[in-house]
Amino acid sequence: MGEKQRKLLVLYASQTGNALDSAERIGREAERRGCPASIVSTDEFDQAIVFVVSTTGQGDSPDSFKEFWRFLLQRNLGNSWLQRVRFAVFGLGDSGYQKYNFVAKKLDKRLLDLGATSIIEKGLGDDQHPSGYEATLDPWMLSLWSMLYQINPKYFPKGPEVVIPQDELIDQPKYMILYHKQETLEPELMAESADIIQRAREMSPGKLSKDKSKPDCFLKMTKNEVLTKAGSTKDVRHLAFQFVSSSIKYEVGDVVELLPSQDSSAIDAFIERCDLDPESFITVCPREAENNGSCGEVNTYVPTKVKTFVELTMDVTSASPRRYFFEVMSFYATAEHEKEKLQYFASPEGRDDLYNYNQKERRSVLEVLEDFPSVQMPFEWLVQLVPLLKPRAFSISSSPLAHPAQVHLTVSIVSWDTPYKRPRKGLCSTWLASLTPEQETNIPVWFHKGSLPAPPQSLPLILVGPGTGCAPFRGFVAERAVQAQTSPVAPVMFFFGCRNKDTDFLYRDFWESHAREGGMLSEVKGGGFYTAFSRDQAKKVYVQHKIREMRKKVWDLLCDGAAVYVAGSSTKMPCDVMSALEEIVMEETGGSKEMASRWLKALEKAGRYNVEAWS
Ligand code: 2AM
Repeated sequence: MGEKQRKLLVLYASQTGNALDSAERIGREAERRGCPASIVSTDEFDQAIVFVVSTTGQGDSPDSFKEFWRFLLQRNLGNSWLQRVRFAVFGLGDSGYQKYNFVAKKLDKRLLDLGATSIIEKGLGDDQHPSGYEATLDPWMLSLWSMLYQINPKYFPKGPEVVIPQDELIDQPKYMILYHKQETLEPELMAESADIIQRAREMSPGKLSKDKSKPDCFLKMTKNEVLTKAGSTKDVRHLAFQFVSSSIKYEVGDVVELLPSQDSSAIDAFIERCDLDPESFITVCPREAENNGSCGEVNTYVPTKVKTFVELTMDVTSASPRRYFFEVMSFYATAEHEKEKLQYFASPEGRDDLYNYNQKERRSVLEVLEDFPSVQMPFEWLVQLVPLLKPRAFSISSSPLAHPAQVHLTVSIVSWDTPYKRPRKGLCSTWLASLTPEQETNIPVWFHKGSLPAPPQSLPLILVGPGTGCAPFRGFVAERAVQAQTSPVAPVMFFFGCRNKDTDFLYRDFWESHAREGGMLSEVKGGGFYTAFSRDQAKKVYVQHKIREMRKKVWDLLCDGAAVYVAGSSTKMPCDVMSALEEIVMEETGGSKEMASRWLKALEKAGRYNVEAWS
């Protein structure tokens, strides 16, 4: 699980059979060592690869794709074996963003440029679709099967159609659980909790590739203040933390990921519902390894208590299970009406109803299991199918220079009503809001770079951060104010927006003090502080309107080499800000829209246009 799956492809070219014999022997020897091998004649070599890639943030690829993409960009790949490869690309994206499915599109184009053959037109799954990405995936898959069959029927010896008898489960769980006697385990159990987290998460089948299992460190909360005032529609907190034991060096603009704790009564309810023994010790082993007898060798993990494993890896209270979960559930349902309902949900006809019941209502695993009480799924299946408990990312709102040994976050406490008016709460933000500095809670965290690189102090800045988008810029301004005490710094313009001045003006004193005479955002320093209170008047006023109002100054600062930084929780806002800047470039240069767009693209290429948006 932690390791990459390695498979050996043995390609042979044989005239009399000797090379075939050798190839087969190589394959057998590899398999005896636990490495699955395929033995294929070079003239039969017809590799079909299906790529499934998502796009995140502002057209970014998942981290696990970056190395592979660098490989594909190499110059000497033209005229290579890739020309013998057939491929199909399915992308997952969100059409609310400007660079919709950007990664799938660029991958598809690159593979074509390299001479690989496309099997079918790329499929683009859209998060905005009323029934989610599966609405595109289902028909796309059907075309894929039929095209592959047309290309070569040998792909599917059983034919392109499958009809699965509904009360049959054709798959086996991919993992098996080994139970351990407690007396065989000793010192490791006393180890630090970072090790326990690492162990549990490394073992988890849901783990994403290269997911860092061991937290960088732990944080303890020192402050939990409400920034919004009574009457606001939002609850935004200023949360301060200190490092527990070891501290991590970070820069302004960095991101911290927190592993939230799930409600303990929900964990107990799940354990009881699934008839698990919370105190027993387990390791998780890939079934493949067990089948070829290497389970003991592969399974080097230190056993973990069932309860700890569930708490640290299985999201039972917030994420909705996938469609496959319902398929497997249907097999285990013993009440006829539940079986029927689950079979319907798992079928293509039931897709939209499932989406409404499950994703739209944000039904948790625990809720789904409670709705189908006759289902008793084996733990192996639960371990495989319950969504992984994911760390949640937040932009850091402190500066290591201005707030040494601290980390600040600006967190909006998430709650909403589903279409059927079921109240839901964000797991991580609700949990953070409930913590107090008096509690001894050690929060596991990971630090990493986001898409806002820390700017050198000589770089003029145009910052745009409505709502909690102001978080990273609080760090930027605080840091620059400290730097200004000892050496010259470049000016900063900051555009802030929120609904109402009286109730939602986050960190008002902080910004206003820096906007005063001589402060970091003051006009005398060449900077400025501009606010857009969207709901204080009949007509909405947004940050982009203020940017337009300040066009002359914005343009001058851009000409002085300023970098633009945009952050916020709106999907549309970054596009609207970009359009406002495009207009300014057009007006100031007298150029066309295309020229202005190219101008801003060049800015982005030069690292001077950075966007971090979250939903
Ligand atoms: P609204 O909620 O009144 O529409 C922080 O959330 C601020 O960003 C709010 O004032 C919000 O306004 C505003 N906002 C919402 N959509 C926006 C957009 N497309 N561009 C700029 N600001 C936006």
